[in-house]
Amino acid sequence: MALAPIAVTRAAEPKAHPADDRLQFGTVFTDHMFVMNYTDGRGWHDPRIVPYQPFSLDPATAVLHYAQAVFDGLKAYRGSDGVIRFFRATKHAERLNRSCQRLCIPALDPAMIVKSFHALVGLDQAWIPKKRGTALYMRPTVVATEPFLGVRPAKTYSYFLILSPVGSYYAEGINPVKILATDTYVRAVKGGTGDVKTAGNYAASIYAAEEAKKQGYTQVLWLDGVEHRYLDEVGTMNIMVKIGDEVITPPLSGSILPGVTRDSILTLCRDWGLKASERPISIDEVIGAARNGTLAEMWGTGTAAVVSPVGELGYKGERITINNGKTGPLTQKLYDAIVSIQYGEAPDPHGWMMPLETAS
Ligand code: COI
Repeated sequence: MALAPIAVTRAAEPKAHPADDRLQFGTVFTDHMFVMNYTDGRGWHDPRIVPYQPFSLDPATAVLHYAQAVFDGLKAYRGSDGVIRFFRATKHAERLNRSCQRLCIPALDPAMIVKSFHALVGLDQAWIPKKRGTALYMRPTVVATEPFLGVRPAKTYSYFLILSPVGSYYAEGINPVKILATDTYVRAVKGGTGDVKTAGNYAASIYAAEEAKKQGYTQVLWLDGVEHRYLDEVGTMNIMVKIGDEVITPPLSGSILPGVTRDSILTLCRDWGLKASERPISIDEVIGAARNGTLAEMWGTGTAAVVSPVGELGYKGERITINNGKTGPLTQKLYDAIVSIQYGEAPDPHGWMMPLETAS
C-alpha cells in the first residue's frame, strides 16, 4: 500500500545554526518536526512536517501520569564526500516498534518511520554539522495523548520526530569516563522493561546517577536486579570489557537494551577475528581481572555515546583504574572504524549506511 503523503508547513523564520565546535548534546533543535497521530479505529494518520513548536497537552494526558512513552535515537551524518547518510535506520525503526509493542502502543508502519527520517532530515539538512565527531541526532518518539486517568492503553497517540545537531554526549568528549557499579539501586529485571526504550527506564535511573556524580563519576554501571552481581548496562550505553584476548559483553537476556551500536561493534570485532563473547560477566570477574592484570580495556557503546572509553570503575568504595585511565588501543580502533563507516570514508560491507533520499 502506498504511504500517505506528508503535508509540509515551513517555518516562517529559520533559526540561527550553532557553530560545529560549540555543539553539546541535545540542547539545540532544528526548524521543523515531523508529527503523526493515532486514533483508535482510524489508525495512524495525518503525517506532516510543521515548524518546531511546543505541544499543548491536557493536564490529564495519559503520558504525563503513567509514562506510556517510547523513543529511539539514531544519527544522520554528513559524509566527508558530502553525502548524507543514516546509520542503521531500519534497525532503529524496528526497535521503536518493538518498544511500542511492549508498552501497548499501536505499531507504526516501519516504512513510514523511515520515510519520516528522509522527509524531515531532507528538509532540515542544512543543520547537519560537518566536523568529525558531530552529527544530527534524531529522536523518534511516541507518546499516549488521551486525557484519561485510568490505567489502560490510551486510545490516541502522537508520533513525533525531532532533530538536534550534536557533539559528544559526555562532557569528557572522547576521553575516558568514570563509572560507578552500584549494588544499591537497580535499573531493570528480566520481565520488566529494561530491554526496550521507554521513558520510565531513564526516569528511574536519575537518582542513582546523581549520587554517582557526587562521588565524581560520569555514569552508573548497573548490575543485574536479582543478585547485584552481573554487569547489565550503563543506561546511556551498553558495556564491553576486554579481558586478556576476549571481548565480553552481557548477553541480551531481557534486562538490557539491544543496542544498535553494541551489535555493530560485536560485528566489527568478529570481522577482525577477535573472540567476542556475549555472556554473563560478574563484577567479581572484572575486579579479579583488574587485580591479576588481565583487565585490558573497558568501553561503552551507544548511538549518543558512540564508543566511549572507561578509564575508571568504582565498586564498594574501591576505585579501579583501567589502562592507566587512557583510551585503550582496541577501543580507539573500534571508534575509528565505526566513525569512518559513518562518515562514508571506509567501505560499508554490512550495508549499515542508508543515503538520504531527497524526494519524499
Ligand atoms: C541514545 O544513545 O540514543 C540514547 O538514547 C541514550 C541517551 C542519550 C539517553
